[in-house]
Amino acid sequence: MAKFLVRGGKLLEGGIAVSGSKNASLPALAASLLFSGTPVFQNLPEIEDIKRMKELLENIKGGQLNYEIAKKIRASILVVGPALARFGRSSFPHPGGCVIGAPASPTSLGGRPIDVFLDGWRAMGAEISLRSSTSDVKSPKTSDVFPRSEIVHSIPAYAISAPRGLRGCDFTFRVPSVTGTEGLMMTAVLANGQTILRNAAQEPEIMSLADWLNKNGAEICGAGTHTITIEGRAGKPLSGKAPFFAPPDRIEAGSFAILGAAAAKEMTIKNFPAEELTALLAVLKAAGAEFEITHNDHSLFPSITLKRAAKLRAVNIQTKEYPGFATDLQAPYVVLATQAEGASMIHETIFEGRLNYAEDLNKMGARIILCDPHRAIVQGPSNLTGWNLEGPDIRAGLAFLMAALIANGESQIGNIYQIDRGHEKIDERLRALGADIQRVK
Ligand code: EPU
Repeated sequence: MAKFLVRGGKLLEGGIAVSGSKNASLPALAASLLFSGTPVFQNLPEIEDIKRMKELLENIKGGQLNYEIAKKIRASILVVGPALARFGRSSFPHPGGCVIGAPASPTSLGGRPIDVFLDGWRAMGAEISLRSSTSDVKSPKTSDVFPRSEIVHSIPAYAISAPRGLRGCDFTFRVPSVTGTEGLMMTAVLANGQTILRNAAQEPEIMSLADWLNKNGAEICGAGTHTITIEGRAGKPLSGKAPFFAPPDRIEAGSFAILGAAAAKEMTIKNFPAEELTALLAVLKAAGAEFEITHNDHSLFPSITLKRAAKLRAVNIQTKEYPGFATDLQAPYVVLATQAEGASMIHETIFEGRLNYAEDLNKMGARIILCDPHRAIVQGPSNLTGWNLEGPDIRAGLAFLMAALIANGESQIGNIYQIDRGHEKIDERLRALGADIQRVK
């Protein structure tokens, strides 16, 4: 298994460009099932989750998802709506991915819930049945290579069909789920009649998906607000030829900005979607970070230049749905909070279990008190020391890499597949800023 060897303590210097957005690209790829031809995708990030999504789409048969691949990424749930809309049925296992949320159900461990997807499809007239045993999920040929936890515990699998066709509906989300909104919006594009989605999520990735689908013949209104209206095409696939161009990844951009504020002599981030990161920038400003945003005529997005302030101050943060402080930036921000003077209260309101990495940062010398599954207090500043860590999920994995770059001494980070899932060639790009980081087998 590959790992990163990091020698920390060097100030970073130079330029880095933000890659195409993972969370905008994943639903767009899933939406290719809504098209009669094959759409063109541009600026997709070269990351593991995108590779898994492509494999999933290449292996789809009559709406049925390949269980082995689908279990690996949470975003596999995004394929179900388009598959149902296009083929009239689908079957799929409970999706895998980062273990950061509440357990999906008493019968599945670790996964995040998908109840709002199921409720939405039912409201559109779909019938859903549960196929509950692991033997339904795994193929007998590969059973001997399954990790033990997957053999012992049952992973729910579902069969979904719309025998009388999908009908438009008026649906209110119990919670404003991002992929839930994308999934139901895509399903509604091919349904019969009008769908209204209320209490919908309003993250920029939803708008990016809707804009692209509209360029190709869909009629979606209100994406980016809490109420989205979709005029269904009664099964007629999209046939437009407008390519999908992935916008810059706002989470990667925000993570780099945090890194710059914590560890740069001077760092310029190009392709920086500043308008999508106002909550983070307000927090960085309050923390005393020094930065400047510059627009130039050759690029749609500005650049930001940051450097580590002489003194960083503690700031309380609360993760929120867009346009609030993104939950995906919480772990990277905690690394900066370890360098700030005073106590920062970190309130994670979106997911349970997204502060579990804190114990590992404490082993490096951080002083983080976990109050409950949603709240932690970070007392700073702390001198971090190199340590051996395992990447727990995409964002906490990157946070460990950031902590290792700030720490004195050598760190090893294992399970870097988690970091590679969401960040393209991160070692090469950080090396260009002077980071001492090697990928070793
Ligand atoms: N929820 C339910 N039931 C559902 C779905 C969600 O209760 O059926 C709850 C979740 O447990 C959570 C809340 O709703 O408490 C919000 O979760 P959401 O569904 O919005 O998350 P998601 O759509 O699964 C996307 C991103 C995540 C990001 C969250 C929040 C993608 C592919 N994933 O996940 O990104 O953290 O929105 O912004 O877009 C990442 O990129 O590393 C990542 C985890």
